[in-house]
Amino acid sequence: MLENVKAIYEEINHYTVASKEQLEQFRMRFISRKGVITELFEGLKTIPAADRRAVGQELNGLKNLAQERFDAFSQHVDDQQTSANSAPPVDLTLPTVPNLTGTQHPLTLVRQRIIQIFERIGFNVADGPEIESDWYNFGALNFPDNHPARDMQDTFFVDKKDNDPSGDMLLRTHTSNVQIRLMEHQKPPIRSIMPGRVYRNETISARAHCMFHQVEGIYIDRNVGFKDLKDTLYHFVKELFEPGTQIRFRPSYFPFTEPSAEIDISCQICGGKGCNICKQSGWVEIAGSGMVDPQVIANCGIDPDEYTGFAFGMGIERITQLKYVVNDLRLYTENDVRFLRQFEGL
Ligand code: PHE
Repeated sequence: MLENVKAIYEEINHYTVASKEQLEQFRMRFISRKGVITELFEGLKTIPAADRRAVGQELNGLKNLAQERFDAFSQHVDDQQTSANSAPPVDLTLPTVPNLTGTQHPLTLVRQRIIQIFERIGFNVADGPEIESDWYNFGALNFPDNHPARDMQDTFFVDKKDNDPSGDMLLRTHTSNVQIRLMEHQKPPIRSIMPGRVYRNETISARAHCMFHQVEGIYIDRNVGFKDLKDTLYHFVKELFEPGTQIRFRPSYFPFTEPSAEIDISCQICGGKGCNICKQSGWVEIAGSGMVDPQVIANCGIDPDEYTGFAFGMGIERITQLKYVVNDLRLYTENDVRFLRQFEGL
């Protein structure tokens, strides 16, 4: 008898209940009148009178344990029920949430593509500061003090002295400062491109921004000629733009190159027929370029009689506009996902 009691103790102690059905099973087995404990109580009659009292006490303990466990289990099952009821109902007919992937910014895409094209023909990538002294942004590049060419680029000054530009600090207006820094610190051959952010004091509109991106390129070595400049940029345009794109060199002026040329390509939007983007001319400008002025080479401590070179510079926003028909510069910085998502997977 006592062994039976012990076994049932064990059973109750190990019992777990997770549902109403299991709770009912527990009740039937241990609590109900037809349960095992009632059965044991009935068996008391057969116990010798001397032991009856002790066994009876054991049985009472067992009965209490069963009741306690039952109360605890039913509380647990009730709690489960209420929390299941208070959760919002699951609507299995709802469409799934689309799994949105991030996109690369169009300017990043185009910058990477430009870098890739030039890296394949032996250019490496160089970097330089955005806060620059007057010397690197203007002086070394042959912009004499008070020369009107300085007005070509409206400058944000960080620190400006009256009448003596040499101490000025400014936000670089072009990436040409890296040209100078490279020539100062490296011996030719130098063959680098320099992507980076530049700043000009312009009112923000669809066509102008006070912050944009350029990629400058420079190649300095013995016997570098204008033909090398042309070959390199022809190759670049052929790689980057649609097949059949025309390219032309138009004489121009930059203080730091001589001769200088601007590079136009046939309009990617209208195919050269004339549209708003190309102002009906069929051509759009994509870059400035030229043979680095011997004085600029000398300014950096390189002998211009031994070395010559070319440089070019282009705006990444402009190229992206032509490649992806982006007609408002402000879209690049507004972070509108409807714009950015159009570049998914490119
Ligand atoms: N720095 C010039 C600009 O910002 C572009 C350029 C670079 C022109 C190199 C010639 C050579 O307009």
